[in-house]
Amino acid sequence: MALLSVEGLRTQFATGAGTVRAVDGVSFAIERGEVLGLVGESGCGKSVTSLSIMRLVPPPGQIVAGRIRLEGEDLLDKDAEAMRRVRGARIAMVFQEPMTSLNPVFTIGDQIAAAVLAHEGGRRRAAWDRAVEMLDQVQVPSPGERARDYPHQLSGGLRQRAMIALALAPGPQLLIADEPTTALDVTIQAQILDLLRRLQAERGMAVLLITHDLGVVAELCHRVAIIYAGRIVEMAPVARIFEEPLHPYTRGLLRCLPHPSRFGQPLSSIEGAPPDLRGADAGCPFAPRCPLAIESCRRHEPALAERRPGHFVACPVAVV
Ligand SMILES: Nc1ncnc2c1ncn2[C@@H]1O[C@H](COP(=O)(O)OP(=O)(O)OP(=O)(O)O)[C@@H](O)[C@H]1O
Ligand SMILES: [Mg+2]
Repeated sequence: MALLSVEGLRTQFATGAGTVRAVDGVSFAIERGEVLGLVGESGCGKSVTSLSIMRLVPPPGQIVAGRIRLEGEDLLDKDAEAMRRVRGARIAMVFQEPMTSLNPVFTIGDQIAAAVLAHEGGRRRAAWDRAVEMLDQVQVPSPGERARDYPHQLSGGLRQRAMIALALAPGPQLLIADEPTTALDVTIQAQILDLLRRLQAERGMAVLLITHDLGVVAELCHRVAIIYAGRIVEMAPVARIFEEPLHPYTRGLLRCLPHPSRFGQPLSSIEGAPPDLRGADAGCPFAPRCPLAIESCRRHEPALAERRPGHFVACPVAVV
């Protein structure tokens, strides 16, 4: 049984200007200890997918269909209290902006210690020692002193490390990392990626890594799902995506990667823009931008099909 399985997930925002179909029938699974990359342009539904898994979609957003199973248990059936326990212990999330998770009015050490206490109980003093140890594990220098700092006293890179320590304190089985390094400069970015890779391997933790940066994917992921307009259009082991991409959209994304020195920059060179997610659903969402589109692409939405072992693509004209 997969650690996490998402089946037919649809999440929509009912707005005055129409219903935004942010996630429109997404299915994937993550195995224990696996790092799955979720990649796509801005606005394609990456964050809404992760917020749906955490059951943290803000109103007016709503999950309208699908199943989200963690070790077989359906998270959509859980009440608020049970879901809080899942978030506290089994699934953790880190964001681009550390202040989304860190509380400005408590010291770093107090926040991590509180997370340890909530999860494991025990004595305050022991929880504090655990907090300092966690800061040491994420390579915060002088962790005993830094634990007494407030978030604003730390540099951006250290704040990011503190957020990771806070997320990992309860020992989650799954870490969802939503653009964890996008806001950092390139050197710090590389250090944080190294750290994530090491922590993932040491703990055997599964990671859903959300990014628009294929360079980050190449470094960290075992498998990649490419998402476009709220739908997964291709999913495969990472080497296959780079060596033999099948979907025209994936090929377009890879052409946006002229040189490794440009890793980390936003993707930009596919002609045209993603569709309005309030539109009707006939046809492939990428057809208007697709160099290979044929008549039927505009009429029938292609299903994700396994074209090679473990390599799924939603495109009838993709050349295998
Ligand atoms: N509160 C909201 N109300 C209405 N629409 C929303 C809301 N939040 C997200 N959306 C829409 O849902 C779609 C998916 O958004 P999402 O934040 O998941 O994109 P993303 O892939 O994470 O993009 P980025 O790379 O910029 O973070 C977008 O079209 C967005 O406009
Ligand atoms: Mg996002």
